Amino acid sequence: MSNIKGMFEAIKKSDAAVFSSLQAEQQRQAEWMELIASENYQSAAVLAAQASVFGNKYAEWFPGKRYYGGQENTDVIESLAIERAKQIFGADHANVQALSGAAANLCAYHAMMEPGDTILGMDLSHGGHLTHGAPVTFTAKVFNFVRYTTNNGVIDFDELRAMALKHKPKVILAGFSAYPRDLDYAKFVEIAQEVDAYAYADMSHIGGLIAAGVLKNPLDYGFHAMMTTTHKSLRWPRGALILSKGNVLNPLKKPEPLKENLPTLIDRSVFPGVQGGPHMHTIAAIAVALGEAQQDSYKTYAQQIIANAKTMADEFLRLGYQLVTWGTDNHMVIVDFSNSDIPDGSVAEKALDAIGISTSKSTIPDDPNPPFRPSGLRIGIQAMTTRGVKEEDVKKIVGFIDEALQYRDDEQYLQQLRQNVKAFCLEFPLP
Ligand SMILES: Cc1ncc(COP(=O)(O)O)c(C=O)c1O
Repeated sequence: MSNIKGMFEAIKKSDAAVFSSLQAEQQRQAEWMELIASENYQSAAVLAAQASVFGNKYAEWFPGKRYYGGQENTDVIESLAIERAKQIFGADHANVQALSGAAANLCAYHAMMEPGDTILGMDLSHGGHLTHGAPVTFTAKVFNFVRYTTNNGVIDFDELRAMALKHKPKVILAGFSAYPRDLDYAKFVEIAQEVDAYAYADMSHIGGLIAAGVLKNPLDYGFHAMMTTTHKSLRWPRGALILSKGNVLNPLKKPEPLKENLPTLIDRSVFPGVQGGPHMHTIAAIAVALGEAQQDSYKTYAQQIIANAKTMADEFLRLGYQLVTWGTDNHMVIVDFSNSDIPDGSVAEKALDAIGISTSKSTIPDDPNPPFRPSGLRIGIQAMTTRGVKEEDVKKIVGFIDEALQYRDDEQYLQQLRQNVKAFCLEFPLP
């Protein structure tokens, strides 16, 4: 059986160009500080499972009901992933085949709606994701998205209810890419019930925090289904889980399109509805990662993310920065530069890039700036928490950021700072 080191050797022997990029990226990740809120570091075991022979196998349909032969091991792996996911998230069913978050959302929409049906989701400029109905997406051409906004960065449920009563959506979508607060899931469900809609949650960013029980779980509040990508706070391979409540029926037979049949509607929407053969090597890695998430150490990790994020928010506020909603409940803060001498989030992102810190510019609610020069900067602490940073280290991280922003036009200063960031990062090795 290959191992990671063996694989490195194999690449080195067969392809010098790819090997040199691989080495360079390994080094960059070790020396840079990763503060993008949607990234993380996988364990060696998870990486190894992804690079395994499961990638050779086609496994269309589902465990016990495959189209091709030779499935005794793929069935074990996928069933293991499904059972672990169900247990961790308290779901009746888990589909583990979606290739990414965007694909998973499309599959879920396709399971709950017909083309042309209405779905109510959070506007991109207020923290929603592109796949929540941004007009540039194909999904928005298929379904009729109506988008709710926020009031001072916080969801206004009176407005959401009024929109639901007016537009009678088939689906009410909770979830975000840039929103630092936990959600009131009971209110979403109450409104969904009033208009007989599905309550669907896209928890891509906070799946890991829900898995560890440090943030609320939408399925505990009556949501019909929930999706989470597997590579953000979950620190697993790139993929997605679609978790649902209801009857798990034979996926080979088309069920009645009823809410209680949602698990099977989702399975059939993933395959054959939207995707082809599942990526079994990714599913193998997801199974390993789900096993890691069942350990006590994972809960400790998630608790540390919350503690670190709160420290990060407090430190920014102490230094005089403005934050969207003035704090955080999850792993991210969104710094708002609209009332500062820093022109916009992209200027800040570039200054931090110059010192080896990765972040991402972000819109703020009712942003006065255009999307490519938004007023905010989104910063997540989940990846550096994987590397072992604690509250005192987070204060140093905010100090680096503050210095880079203050001295953003002083190249020499930034160069020195870059050395300091590198030395700091090397104290916290990659897993
Ligand atoms: C809330 C949300 N949904 C969906 C996605 C899409 O995930 P992927 O990039 O895996 O397709 C993202 C990714 O940023 C996201 O933040």
